[in-house]
Amino acid sequence: MVSQTIPVEDFDLVIFGATGDLSRRKILPALYRRMHAGQMPKTVQIIGGARSDLDASGFRDFVRQSLDEFVDSALLEPELVDAFMQTIHYIKVDATGDEGWDLLSQMLRAEVIQAFYFSVGPALFAPLARRLLKYKIANGNARIVVEKPFGHDLVSARALNKELSGCFAEHQIYRIDHYLGKETVQNLMAVRFANALFEPLWNARHIDHVQITVSENLSVGGRGAYYDKSGAMRDMVQNHLMQLLCLTAMEPPSLYEANAVRDEKLKVIRALQPVPSKDVVRGQYSADDKGPSYLADVGDPKSTTESFIALKVHVGNWRWSGTPFYLRTGKRLRSRVSEIAVSFKDPPHSIFEDYERESHGNVLVIRLQPDEGITLWVTIKEPGPGGMRLTEVPLDMTFAEALGNDGEEMPDAYERLVMDVIRGNQTLFMRCDEVEAAWAWADPIIEGWETRRDKPKTYSPGSSGPEDSLMLLHRDGRRWREL
Ligand code: BG6
Repeated sequence: MVSQTIPVEDFDLVIFGATGDLSRRKILPALYRRMHAGQMPKTVQIIGGARSDLDASGFRDFVRQSLDEFVDSALLEPELVDAFMQTIHYIKVDATGDEGWDLLSQMLRAEVIQAFYFSVGPALFAPLARRLLKYKIANGNARIVVEKPFGHDLVSARALNKELSGCFAEHQIYRIDHYLGKETVQNLMAVRFANALFEPLWNARHIDHVQITVSENLSVGGRGAYYDKSGAMRDMVQNHLMQLLCLTAMEPPSLYEANAVRDEKLKVIRALQPVPSKDVVRGQYSADDKGPSYLADVGDPKSTTESFIALKVHVGNWRWSGTPFYLRTGKRLRSRVSEIAVSFKDPPHSIFEDYERESHGNVLVIRLQPDEGITLWVTIKEPGPGGMRLTEVPLDMTFAEALGNDGEEMPDAYERLVMDVIRGNQTLFMRCDEVEAAWAWADPIIEGWETRRDKPKTYSPGSSGPEDSLMLLHRDGRRWREL
């Protein structure tokens, strides 16, 4: 199947924090890939803004290295790379001072779409927004893109929203959660709302429970200083896992349109019930021969920040009453797996009682990574003679196979999201009230363990987290899926 690429209009994109890690690993390679796909006009201007003493040619070297490292070499066609380099510019700009702003203003074209990507720490969001206004740099149609973390708690997120909304209208503010740009996450909406098959079963009457797992095998690596102030709850649950939960649990929006979708997600977040401490498990990885412990990684032997968290969550509404959502995420676990597993209830009466059966029931697994796809586990008769023996088999739809474009990779989340910014489509971006509601739910959970001075449990690297996390489900007569 050949994927359709709808070209976007001409634009100027300024990346603040252009020499940073996100820009190098994700944003610049994503832009190149979109040009390669023919989605981006060659007349665009990509302007790197940072504090470094670079000129355009120095920044182009940086961009070239980023492409060499993060773009498949088969896509690096010399002519196209040259054309891409022509679009690259650089400006030394001071986010908290006056240097560079007048010059930046002269570089931008008033007649094209303007986007400003704040790939910087949240402390610089407001200073940047104010300067765009003060120097009359952004036109009325300009968009700003802000990265997570969006605040540290409800108070700081509100303050940030207030600052930004003082400079830009909500329809101009794109709060990125890159999980929303993942192929399968959107497919979850397609599967739910474009098929008549699942929706009648998508409720507490038929669904026993849902497991949402985002497990990583890497450590916090060089990000210890940031991570130790956040932990898994702030780094992953309040945003990425929350978004997965919302898309799984939300009511059908009336339209696939930004505000209709976000209204429904917001209702889910607001329906989340407080989580008692017995339903929260936190962990920290220990050392092994492959790497240091969490405490050594962050350089603080007394840190009580979690590198793993598991929670049992209830959505208090008619659709989900009685169906728990179990969430877990962590670093240095057995494998890198992100998935949503929806476990259906057993049939009300089994006519196969007398026959051999070890059932896990029907499970719909929506896999974000690796091998993006959807699998439905169904029970069938084991083939061959020997009576009625039942077995479970996967009905598998691996997107790369089913929809693969002659081996071409699926676009990365950032490719999709940056193009959505240019198109002015906010469906896959978080609205201010969503972010605040997510913090309003997360804050009391965090305050709970801080007040109790709970210490995270230790877990072995390469395991599936602390023992207590297994108990969280075991208590309910359930089991986590294997990592
Ligand atoms: C980021 C977190 O938002 O998401 C990281 O800050 C995490 O800690 C990353 O590793 C996971 O993203 P992905 O796309 O690799 O699953």
